[in-house]
Amino acid sequence: MPTCLLLTVWFLLCIPGSLHMVGAQNQIGATTHPDDEKALNSIFAAWKIRASRAWNTSGELCSGAAIDDNIFIDDKAYNPFIKCDCTFNSSTFCRITALKVYALDVVGPIPPQLWTLIYLSNLNLAQNYLTGSISPAIGNLTRMEWL
Ligand SMILES: *[C@@H]1O[C@H](CO)[C@@H](O)[C@H](O)[C@H]1NC(C)=O
Ligand SMILES: *[C@@H]1O[C@H](CO)[C@@H](O)[C@H](O)[C@H]1NC(C)=O
Ligand SMILES: *[C@@H]1O[C@H](CO)[C@@H](O)[C@H](O)[C@H]1NC(C)=O
Repeated sequence: MPTCLLLTVWFLLCIPGSLHMVGAQNQIGATTHPDDEKALNSIFAAWKIRASRAWNTSGELCSGAAIDDNIFIDDKAYNPFIKCDCTFNSSTFCRITALKVYALDVVGPIPPQLWTLIYLSNLNLAQNYLTGSISPAIGNLTRMEWL
């Protein structure tokens, strides 16, 4: 009985503890770099899409699922979606490293702000109605690994 009780208490204390740690990354002061924040907000406004609340918690783009190491960019539960690296400038800034806008019937050209998200290494814009040519500014995205 006492062992069982102990385990129950451990379980109750540990699960909220780990959830807390996931969100804590931003509580220690890391915020989305203003350039990335501005760029992503303009891109989404141009495409008339919005981040889900599970990711964009309290208006902070690099928050929630976007900084949860157990949730990957391909996760079908999140779309559109981003992932961030929050280790810049001694863990004070987050940069957007992955962007997914998959099959959301987005119509129109690629907003030029996309080429300023220079920390992107993973970009998935498949199955939309994107028009126009790809700007030579795509050369800005030197960290790209998966397109
Ligand atoms: C994130 O949330 C804020 C506050 O609700 C909102 O102003 C902003 O447009 C959201 N960003 C995106 C990309 O949806
Ligand atoms: C962050 O670090 C980079 C290089 O390490 C530096 O150029 C930049 O000025 C720093 N930004 C801020 C806001 O401290
Ligand atoms: C390339 O990225 C830098 C840094 O974000 C930005 O200042 C510049 O405008 C970008 N170039 C183009 C052509 O978008």
